[in-house]
Amino acid sequence: MEKVCILGLGCIGLPMASLLAVKGFKVQGVDVNFNIVETINQGYSHINEPELNDLVRSAIKSGNFFASINPSPADIFIIAVPSLITKNHLPDITHVKAATYATAPHLTPGNLVILESTIPVGTTEKIAGWINELRPDLVIPSLVSSVPQIRNKVQIFLAHCPERVLPGRILQELVANDRIIGGIDEPSALKAQEFYEKFVCGGISLTDTRTAELIKLVENSFRDVNIAFANELSLICNKLGINVWEVVELANRHPRVDILQPGPGVGGHCITKDPWYIVDSATDESRLIYTARLINDHMPGYIVNRIQEMAAHLEQPVITCLGLSYKADCVELRESPAIKIVQDLSKSTARQILVVEPHVKALPDELAKYDNIKLVDLTTGMKQADLVVLLVNHHAFTNLDTEMYGKKAVLDTRGIWR
Ligand SMILES: NC(=O)c1ccc[n+]([C@@H]2O[C@H](COP(=O)([O-])OP(=O)(O)OC[C@H]3O[C@@H](n4cnc5c(N)ncnc54)[C@H](O)[C@@H]3O)[C@@H](O)[C@H]2O)c1
Repeated sequence: MEKVCILGLGCIGLPMASLLAVKGFKVQGVDVNFNIVETINQGYSHINEPELNDLVRSAIKSGNFFASINPSPADIFIIAVPSLITKNHLPDITHVKAATYATAPHLTPGNLVILESTIPVGTTEKIAGWINELRPDLVIPSLVSSVPQIRNKVQIFLAHCPERVLPGRILQELVANDRIIGGIDEPSALKAQEFYEKFVCGGISLTDTRTAELIKLVENSFRDVNIAFANELSLICNKLGINVWEVVELANRHPRVDILQPGPGVGGHCITKDPWYIVDSATDESRLIYTARLINDHMPGYIVNRIQEMAAHLEQPVITCLGLSYKADCVELRESPAIKIVQDLSKSTARQILVVEPHVKALPDELAKYDNIKLVDLTTGMKQADLVVLLVNHHAFTNLDTEMYGKKAVLDTRGIWR
């Protein structure tokens, strides 16, 4: 069976490594974080994702999977390390570059290198260039197609296959989702297709690397722009004294209108970052995508102002915030607008803030440092609250008995208690 080396054992890399191992591939997982490597080798997942712990345990037990700090030779290398943005919203692909540099010394003729990280347009070509510099003995097809004497000495294959999984459903979607494969040339795309066909049930479409890179960014920008439209409607309705939820519900009765639900902002690791890659690559042309980012980033501050306006009418109120994750029924806290709201609220008031988040056992570090924030259970939070702020539409909150909040001041940012 082929040996696969996966760099980056996070939300994407660890489920993928474990899945491949139980399917019979020999898998080496690589992560720069020693604690993560140790945890995985003991048979545990450091990622909070349904059924992943059991899958990691099975993968390690099978003898097909082990984790380490450094890569070693393999048939297929998969890069699934973080891609980030700077404080000024510029692309930061230092981890991708570091992972490429760590991989290059171990490459041998016939290897396939797959980039699963989300990346700005043109990054796969940059990777080809870095590999070429580090390993002039190896040939990457696209770089040599114009040089007849080495055209037949194709030695390694390079492709970008962006991930589309949803936290909370990663194990199902890794297998079921359709895939886009961008090859640096056709043989690379076909080689990657051959690999994914061994464990993916969804359809597989082949294209070039720049198109594949942009498709991933477009998908998340599409979501961001549509959410921004709904959020802008909520600002407009608030100004005009109109119920935004009623507007959205009734406008959606139009056969060709499908407005999303407004909320307190946009979070998660991807949607908050990916549109900026497009804005950086085509700044003058991406005015809508840029504006959507600004609207969604504006929402947490707007919600904090609304909470403060409501609190000003109450005497020393206890404020209970429901939900911390970035979306319903999910444990993902990265870039969550709810966390930003609770944090900003605690900085601007000496009042006690109670937080209810059924998916965590302790406050995240960003909030744990504030003395006036306390994590409590739902019953305590609701009993003690003078002002209830619903930030996430978790199932546990949707079905809440109206008795629990009916007589309290309520700010429902998700429109579930209408
Ligand atoms: N999380 C998602 O739902 C999701 C969905 C689609 C795409 N993506 C993309 O996939 C990529 C990975 O995201 P993630 O959520 O798995 O990140 P993550 O932060 O959960 O995990 C990344 C892991 O990579 C490790 N790492 C960093 N540099 C490394 C290096 N040089 N070598 C080896 N390991 C290294 C980190 O220690 C970490 O454990 C990103 O580009 C992201 O945008 C993520």
